[in-house]
Amino acid sequence: MTEPEALIAAARAAARNAHAPYSRFAVGAALRMTDGSIVTGANFENASYGLSLCAETVAIATASAQGRLGEVAEVAVIGGMLVEGVPTGDAPIRPCGRCRQVLNEAAQIGRRDLTVYCAGAEGDAFEEHRLSELLPHAFGPADLGL
Ligand code: THU
Repeated sequence: MTEPEALIAAARAAARNAHAPYSRFAVGAALRMTDGSIVTGANFENASYGLSLCAETVAIATASAQGRLGEVAEVAVIGGMLVEGVPTGDAPIRPCGRCRQVLNEAAQIGRRDLTVYCAGAEGDAFEEHRLSELLPHAFGPADLGL
């Protein structure tokens, strides 16, 4: 398994813990840290729908809570509709706009562009992007002197 495939596999494992009973769309995110370790997150919905958290946001907040916000190097994001409790489908998903901004916080604090792998819940296909392409001309910590 290549390194992107291993990160995608970690995101897929995380998606199995998605709390997504309202959308029935499970998302998993996996962060490759600079030391090679992996931090994951899954979407966490709420009965008050607008309070729901995306998988990427959960993963980045987890890395930050570990004191490692500046150590994020790569991100894998996968998602698919839940069918009998299992995420399905091979169409790649890309981070929503809010999550791109959240990922940018880690990128600028760490002073590195992030590689973002996007895949579906199943299959071998994936896309490789740079966060700077997904969120060009970003506002971030650097604008506030950090
Ligand atoms: N979702 C994510 O977790 N990440 C994204 O980048 C896009 C959307 C979640 C939010 C919601 O729980 C479900 O997918 C359907 O929108």
